[in-house]
Amino acid sequence: MILALATTHSPRLVDSSHRRVIAPISTPDRLLLGPGPSNADPTVLKALSRTPIGHLDPLYVELMGEVQELLRYAWQTDNRLTLPMSGTGSAAMEATLANTVEPGDTVLVAVKGYFGNRLVDMAGRYRANVKVIEKPWGEAFTKEELEAALIEHKPTILAMVHAETSTGVCQPMEGIGDLCRKHDCLLLLDTVTSLGGVPLYLDEWKVDLAYSCSQKGLSCPPGLGPFTMGPRAEAKLAARQDKVPNWYLDVSLLNQYWGSDRVYHHTAPVNMNFGMREALRLLADEGLDMAWARHRTNAEALWSGLEAMGIEMHVPEELRLPTLTTVRIPEDVDGKAFTQHLLNNHGIEVGGGLGVLAGKIWRIGLMGYNSNPENVSRLLNLFETELPQFRQNVAVAA
Ligand SMILES: Cc1ncc(COP(=O)(O)O)c(C=O)c1O
Repeated sequence: MILALATTHSPRLVDSSHRRVIAPISTPDRLLLGPGPSNADPTVLKALSRTPIGHLDPLYVELMGEVQELLRYAWQTDNRLTLPMSGTGSAAMEATLANTVEPGDTVLVAVKGYFGNRLVDMAGRYRANVKVIEKPWGEAFTKEELEAALIEHKPTILAMVHAETSTGVCQPMEGIGDLCRKHDCLLLLDTVTSLGGVPLYLDEWKVDLAYSCSQKGLSCPPGLGPFTMGPRAEAKLAARQDKVPNWYLDVSLLNQYWGSDRVYHHTAPVNMNFGMREALRLLADEGLDMAWARHRTNAEALWSGLEAMGIEMHVPEELRLPTLTTVRIPEDVDGKAFTQHLLNNHGIEVGGGLGVLAGKIWRIGLMGYNSNPENVSRLLNLFETELPQFRQNVAVAA
């Protein structure tokens, strides 16, 4: 048990009844091969445990600049407004909408999984006129489908998920930014499960707004939400009639802290940013091309190993995400019992399906620090040796 609670009652101390004796924290070492979080790099964990410094300390201010520059590199963008939101990926997701949506704006969301629906929910909360186009969970949109919807709905923003963690699909991005420019709308992209692990070229793809998280391809614990906004989105923000309806996520205020003024906005989670700085440094040190190739090689080894056992992938290979693989649970297998076994007996986390894919797929993450051949072999070996115990008795023909 992590928190063992015991109460002490000392008759001699007046306020002794307020004492609580709780065992020090103790957590198991898990191998996180699910949809996230992924294990953090030990170098990042070391950075997180450094003594905090002030959030306006000149050394911290210098580190902020490094984080911003390294984020631009990871995303392949020159966007001035690039910073880690204090919050998880959902905070950065909300920031993209909070800053650019004005009541009545049409926001078109291309939904092909669970996180597309979160964008729909959030855009509605900012009083957008939300339009939705949908694809089955396991497919991606074609340019033609997107252009037809742009023509029909004439949105101010097209929002979509690059790497759909609920389905394992990687949306091909070539040409979508051009379509958005042609139809005069901003392109907003969720890169939560792609940053650091899957090729991303925000400027080349003409992406105007993007966000991500710290806990997947960047090998950092959850807690920061990288955010970036390009010049066209900045212009929309500058022209808005009312205040951004969310004080904490207002980029015009945040930029006074992250930009050249360095004016206090909120107390930055300094240690999280120590970790983020190290995570991004490690990524840059490996090199984006190498990191992307590593993710692909390890994912391919996983795919071919599972397929050799007769286990099917949910997504066609050309759309498959290297960071997150969705695997069809064989019909005669109790999928939940197997993942519980992996967790309880081997300390390995593998995810289950969400929404319409609940009970139908497993989700296996090989992200950041965890994308390595040893983890692939270990998992394949467990599938080979232990999955058979979880096959229900199939009726044998007489
Ligand atoms: C594609 C996608 N978008 C958004 C989120 C939300 O991020 P967070 O859970 O860090 O708030 C997630 C979380 O896994 C995700 O996978």
